Amino acid sequence: MDLYEYQGRDLFDRHGLPVLAGGVATTPEEARAIAERLGGRVVVKAQVKVGGRGKAGGVKLADDPEGAVAHATNILGMDIKGHTVHKVMLTVTADIAEEYYFSYLLDRANRTFLCIASVAGGMEIEQVAEESPDKVAKVAIDASVGVDEAKAREIVAAAGFPAEVADQVVDIAVKLWDSFVSEDATLVEVNPLAKTKSGQVLCLDAKVTLDANATFRHPEHEELVDQAAVDPLEQRAKEKDLNYVKLDGEVGIIGNGAGLVMSTLDVVAYAGEAQGGVKPANFLDIGGGASAAVMANGLEIVLSDPSVKSVFVNVFGGITACDEVANGIVHALTLLEQRGERVTKPLVVRLDGNNAEAGRAILDGAANPLVERVDTMDGAAQRAAELAAAGV
Ligand SMILES: Nc1ncnc2c1ncn2[C@@H]1O[C@H](COP(=O)(O)OP(=O)(O)OP(=O)(O)O)[C@@H](O)[C@H]1O
Ligand SMILES: [Mg+2]
Repeated sequence: MDLYEYQGRDLFDRHGLPVLAGGVATTPEEARAIAERLGGRVVVKAQVKVGGRGKAGGVKLADDPEGAVAHATNILGMDIKGHTVHKVMLTVTADIAEEYYFSYLLDRANRTFLCIASVAGGMEIEQVAEESPDKVAKVAIDASVGVDEAKAREIVAAAGFPAEVADQVVDIAVKLWDSFVSEDATLVEVNPLAKTKSGQVLCLDAKVTLDANATFRHPEHEELVDQAAVDPLEQRAKEKDLNYVKLDGEVGIIGNGAGLVMSTLDVVAYAGEAQGGVKPANFLDIGGGASAAVMANGLEIVLSDPSVKSVFVNVFGGITACDEVANGIVHALTLLEQRGERVTKPLVVRLDGNNAEAGRAILDGAANPLVERVDTMDGAAQRAAELAAAGV
């Protein structure tokens, strides 16, 4: 989960990192109140989960509350790389002398953690990394050792931080590592890490990604979720423990096993090309040991997506026997009917593997006019795409 800058700033603050006083506003009037409370010059910053906000006009300095209101009015509602700005953060300004870059991240390719640091930070860091990679230090961090003072000194030397800021950067490097570990983050990035004219080092930006697999350890992270941005179907699926991802096509997909579902997306997208470009509407893996109840929950989620015009249920019986899945489908349709949610969308079902014959017989016996049985994966994808195209 990516955090907004203001959430990252709060997190840094809790871990004792040097951040500036500030507040977050959703209206120009709230921005005025914060600017008045902070006093003096303030910076108004668009809160969107994308980089390059400054260059896009989403970071502006204001001399007084009037100016802050004017900037907030302009920035709120602004579109930055496809992200609409709903909130702005205001902080006091820093008198910047130098801008550095500092981050910790999970280096998946090398199976380690990595510190990236540079004295050439600021808004052009990507360009620096490309044109003069020697100005960007990369130091591997051993997870079992972490960043203690000695490691922090090694990083400071590798990146060439000036002697007068070394102690401050060492302190920041250690605290930032502590926050990275204790919050179960996969990225903490400070750009710029700024030196002020009076020689103080401050975190002026905060980019944090938390590891969603660790949320069970952090009930407090729940409140960082941007509820307005959560897809309601994904939310319902999560409550039912289903692995569901909403996509933008028309063919609902249900399968057992992530690999099978992914290849189902591919065959449906391929078959859909000949049908005017219909595409998969979602990813839904009902898992290896999926029961009738799980199938019912899955169908309910997929069928309640208004863009779904047909559904492809692709099951290869392994641990889950096909007769159980077939019963799940029949049961789910009855269940939905009983809840007054009349099912009108066609279902194409392909059952193969463990107990396939028994499963097919159950489907045939139920003789639901909405359910079509196709025994090959390609054939079923083709049929589901045709039905979706006809229903659009
Ligand atoms: N509190 C502040 N006082 C003065 N200047 C600031 C302050 N905060 C940010 N700036 C200036 O604005 C620039 C852009 O800010 P910031 O890094 O937060 O935005 P950004 O566009 O997210 O950058 P990135 O490229 O990292 O995404 C900074 O490099 C800095 O020069
Ligand atoms: Mg930045």
